[in-house]
Amino acid sequence: MQVVTTIAEAVRLRQQLPRPLGFVPTMGYLHEGHLTLVRRARQECATVAVSIFVNPTQFGPQEDLAAYPRDLPRDLGMVEPEGVAWVFNPSVEVMYPQGANTWVEVGALSQPLEGAHRPGHFRGVTTVVAKLFNIVRPDRTYFGEKDAQQLRVIRKMAYDLNMGIDIVPVPTVRERDGLAMSSRNVYLNPEERKAALCLYRSLQLAQRLYRAGERDAEAIRRQVRELIQAEPLAHIEYVSVADDETLEELAAIGGPALVSLAVRFGRTRLIDNVTLR
Ligand code: PAJ
Repeated sequence: MQVVTTIAEAVRLRQQLPRPLGFVPTMGYLHEGHLTLVRRARQECATVAVSIFVNPTQFGPQEDLAAYPRDLPRDLGMVEPEGVAWVFNPSVEVMYPQGANTWVEVGALSQPLEGAHRPGHFRGVTTVVAKLFNIVRPDRTYFGEKDAQQLRVIRKMAYDLNMGIDIVPVPTVRERDGLAMSSRNVYLNPEERKAALCLYRSLQLAQRLYRAGERDAEAIRRQVRELIQAEPLAHIEYVSVADDETLEELAAIGGPALVSLAVRFGRTRLIDNVTLR
């Protein structure tokens, strides 16, 4: 496995190694969720590349950029046995040299939910992912459904900008008790970790209500909120029931609906979602 930090090295590898090239962009501090993306890429592609880059432009000024967990040796030890051919681990200076001043921004899809609560977040995500795509030039890339809006925003960017790259969605990987795996879970203290189970429980409740025939989106939002509010350590940022494609909030559920939520436990902000269909 080769670990490269410059764009010139990445360009050489992308030209040398067999196609199709599968690509898994990450911010590191890897877990089973990331590895599931890697394994899926390995099954479908001759060569797999992973990027590890904590992208400063997608963090708000009050967010956890400095504290974001990092452990490159551990990450490399995890991806090597998975058959990854190369890891791209650039510095901030390589990705954003002095004077870099061009942004990629997706319209309406990036406005609600995470976009509304983390101003500028998706502009940072789409800009860095577009740059990574241009550097790596993959045939297929793998994104987790855990970040439901990010997946939709990236798909829209790739389509609108004619990137010709397949965006492959991968289902959310959960701990045995249902908590969605996330690099940020390490911030949770034991009480918060226990409390965070209310997220998955509330999504299961939404699914049960839907299966029992509930189609009133507000009724689902209300009961999801009530379940989470019963947990004193949980502070809701949003609970949404939206059109699964456009992410517009629904009154009545007709087609597939995305139930998504962002909840804070102490200083840790967690997101999760499920699609009702
Ligand atoms: P990061 O949070 O490291 O996630 C990298 C990829 O792993 C994303 O596609 C994310 O959806 C996926 N992922 C994370 N947890 C998952 C889980 N429990 N199950 C399945 N997939 C999971 O998302 C980012 O990094 C960044 O925004 C990035 C796209 C790399 C741009 O900087």
